[in-house]
Amino acid sequence: MTGAVTVAGMCGIIGYVGHTESTRPLSVVMEALSRLQYRGYDSAGVVVVNQSGLHHVKKAGKLAALEAELAARPLPAASSAVGHTRWATHGGPTDANAHPHLSPDGAVAVVHNGIIENHDLLRQELLNAGAVFSSQTDTEVAAHLLARAYHQTGDLPDAMCLVAQRLEGAFTLLAVATGQPHLVVGARRTSPLVVGLGEGENFLGSDVAAFVAQTNRALELGQDQVVTITPDSVSVTDFAGQPVEAKHFTVDWDASAAVKGGFATFMEKEIHDQPDAVRDTLLGRTGPQGHLKLDELRVSESLLRSIDKIIVVACGTAAYAGHVAKYAIEHWCRIPTEVELAHEFRYRDAIVTEKTLIVAISQSGETMDTIQAVRHAREQGAKVIAVVNTMGSTIARESDAALYTHAGPEVAVASTKAFLAQITATYLLGLYLAQLRGTMFADEVRAVLSELDQTPAKIQTVIESEDGIKALASAMKETKSVLFLGRHVGFPVAMEGALKLKELAYIHAEGFAAGELKHGPIALIDQGQPVFVVVPSPRGRDALHDKILSNIEEVRARGAVTLVVAEEGDIAVTEFAERVLWVPQTPTLLAPLVAVVPLQIFACALASAKGLDVDQPRNLAKSVTVE
Ligand code: AGP
Repeated sequence: MTGAVTVAGMCGIIGYVGHTESTRPLSVVMEALSRLQYRGYDSAGVVVVNQSGLHHVKKAGKLAALEAELAARPLPAASSAVGHTRWATHGGPTDANAHPHLSPDGAVAVVHNGIIENHDLLRQELLNAGAVFSSQTDTEVAAHLLARAYHQTGDLPDAMCLVAQRLEGAFTLLAVATGQPHLVVGARRTSPLVVGLGEGENFLGSDVAAFVAQTNRALELGQDQVVTITPDSVSVTDFAGQPVEAKHFTVDWDASAAVKGGFATFMEKEIHDQPDAVRDTLLGRTGPQGHLKLDELRVSESLLRSIDKIIVVACGTAAYAGHVAKYAIEHWCRIPTEVELAHEFRYRDAIVTEKTLIVAISQSGETMDTIQAVRHAREQGAKVIAVVNTMGSTIARESDAALYTHAGPEVAVASTKAFLAQITATYLLGLYLAQLRGTMFADEVRAVLSELDQTPAKIQTVIESEDGIKALASAMKETKSVLFLGRHVGFPVAMEGALKLKELAYIHAEGFAAGELKHGPIALIDQGQPVFVVVPSPRGRDALHDKILSNIEEVRARGAVTLVVAEEGDIAVTEFAERVLWVPQTPTLLAPLVAVVPLQIFACALASAKGLDVDQPRNLAKSVTVE
């Protein structure tokens, strides 16, 4: 795979510039948006530029809604165009929040992928200067700033440099301006942006899927760079306007592979997206002093101080994220925390009062079991915080507040990156409650946040060891049953590892609390029975570590083949393991973020070795919208 570009971030972006005014710019952009929908699909918009200026249409809903709008209000012929398909992170999926965002005078239009962390500050500065906003998005702030700079400099690339220097966070911006019908300017920091090179025309895209149908010649852009394309030129500078060299590469993916970032399946792409999913979920949630600021938590601080119980309601993988959260929240906040399967919670006479905080975890935000549990809890007077990945979803709308995961759209039915993002978001909630209720000192919160910031790189390290895990999976493809053991936070990891294998490879797999084995399940152990064991950090809780080694010995003595997930350096496990899958050292409570990754890779690889469809497993739906 030449020129692999990390496919991160949430939205789909496409820019086109050509010589003559025609319908080509719009058709190129619409074709690209249809391909980019996997990056986000809660609203879409286009802006075209011709001699008379900017003309745009944007619409909430899937691309079909934009197409209908364009049929009703056709755009004129143009020489350049920019398009955007949105995965909302700030501001719900509405027409007003859809991109492009224009400056009040209509002189500049902007589309954006990422999160501008200091948008509040900049918005306030603009409001103080009399600016009027028409959306809740962080993107519109960039539109205002760009227009001001463009009117000052008369040069869009210069304006982009000035604005990019003021933005913090992760962003890819594309901009067009009146009076510049043959120019599109882009800027990127952390979020991706690539250039497509045509004949008498050029392209910009959030990834190569945006233009692979038009050209396979591309330029990779580096961090903190501004790119300006005209029909016959491409120039790249740093944010100070100094020219820099961009790296040419050839896209050797076909269009369908391009949509999956060059991976064969969305499942593999999304496993590889996980460092970004965790990083993006952490982004913008700590203040300058390193303290947590969860602006979107619209539940009063006094109420959060008064709660005396937390009940997590969720299903499937989301419920396992809740189980991980339970260990962390109880340890940090000392608030009794229960985790309930949403479909059970609703029908048992649970004890819920005004002092109960319900945390509803859901990737889709449309799981009917969880929706009904939220409604049931609210009838009992409880406050509900949703931890969801989909803005504007039913659970988000029916909760008192939503703490969004920023995993980007999860296309594969079996959940991976959303799981890690859910764990991350519930950690943030726990730390926020601890900070608010004073059960942790500020420096203790900062220490955990610092450890969390290091987990994306650790996840990446595990991903880079995938070839060995894939080989193990291929060798085991005839396996009929696999058991998974874990203790403490390793127990929900074992449950999730078993679920992944069931969902993807259709074989019997069961997760157990390792301590529970001797109370019955150990009867399952027969000669050659594969057993994964998630071993906790030897530095965290020694008793736990020694206990799980004796659990491993119990099953090995009865013929089990032990496959151990353990921390680098924990050599004590090697004498107990047929195979060790090493993961980087991580504080015990945060270990699930790395320990689950080998199990995801294993399940995906074994299913692929069996020739199964890992993106659309049989009998499953991405969102179970019936009870
Ligand atoms: C996870 O791999 C499964 N697809 C399933 O268990 C899923 O986690 C569950 O249905 C909950 O979905 P939600 O997160 O969208 O609410």
